[in-house]
Amino acid sequence: MSRIAYVNGRYLPRHLATVHIEDRGYQFSDGVYEVCEVRGGRLVDERLHMGRLARSLDELRIAMPMTLAALGAVMRETVRRNRVGDGIVYLQVTRGVARRDHAFPPPGTAPSVVVTARNIDFSGNEKTAVDGIAVVTVPDNRWERVDIKSVSLLPNVLAKQAAREQGAKEAWFVDRSGCVTEGSSTNAWIVTRDGDVVTRPAGPGILRGITRTVLLDAIKAQGLRLVERPFTVEEAYAAREAFVTSASLIVMPVVRIDGRPVGNGAPGLIAGALRRDFHRYAELS
Ligand code: PDD
Repeated sequence: MSRIAYVNGRYLPRHLATVHIEDRGYQFSDGVYEVCEVRGGRLVDERLHMGRLARSLDELRIAMPMTLAALGAVMRETVRRNRVGDGIVYLQVTRGVARRDHAFPPPGTAPSVVVTARNIDFSGNEKTAVDGIAVVTVPDNRWERVDIKSVSLLPNVLAKQAAREQGAKEAWFVDRSGCVTEGSSTNAWIVTRDGDVVTRPAGPGILRGITRTVLLDAIKAQGLRLVERPFTVEEAYAAREAFVTSASLIVMPVVRIDGRPVGNGAPGLIAGALRRDFHRYAELS
């Protein structure tokens, strides 16, 4: 079956689904995106993803291309046309097409909208979660507004590649004070020896992950002790457990940080329980 993409009002076979060479997303990475998990053909936490999208657009003063309900309908239709059962849907909105000039294009320039969807064999992630993943730390050299989900991801790309080249699956960014901010495409968590579940507070230093937001509810509901505070790399080395969260990985145990085993070097019990329980707290639409 050929895959279908939505591009600026049309559903097109992928080989015909193209954007203009003067799209500002292409030339300036002047755009934002969302990645939403799809489960049983339904969107996971659409409302929260759409809320974050609206905020990202607003922060960058990019016009909302259509109502959030209409965008949701396009995402669902893209999922349907691609017969996605379990997978992800990707949505990107840029400031549109205009002759190259750094400043904003003329008022009325239409934002560009692209939506793609694909099946993912989540059983692969399940197998990965049995063993857990390795992470390496890298200096956080990103701009100050990483709370905006912009497509400007070059430092994240370089960090992920550095991880891969060291045999790790993810890179954790570390700020100037030695604290972990987040992963290159995930939020970062540890469980201390005292059993506190720790993650950095949402603010300008991290992307407020939707998985993170929903997991906070799960953690509270399970009666675990949650502490939103920065944690250092040293604390992470000494943690009982570590894990990362994102729409595609859900909760993924971390078993090595910079080559050192976390806890006993096996996935932690809390990470495992949260992974199993996550979807009880997520919203399907
Ligand atoms: N990444 N931090 C960063 C830098 C991210 O790029 C992501 C998501 C997250 C987790 O957010 P969420 O729980 O909403 O997926 C945190 C997506 C999946 C990506 O770029 O593919």
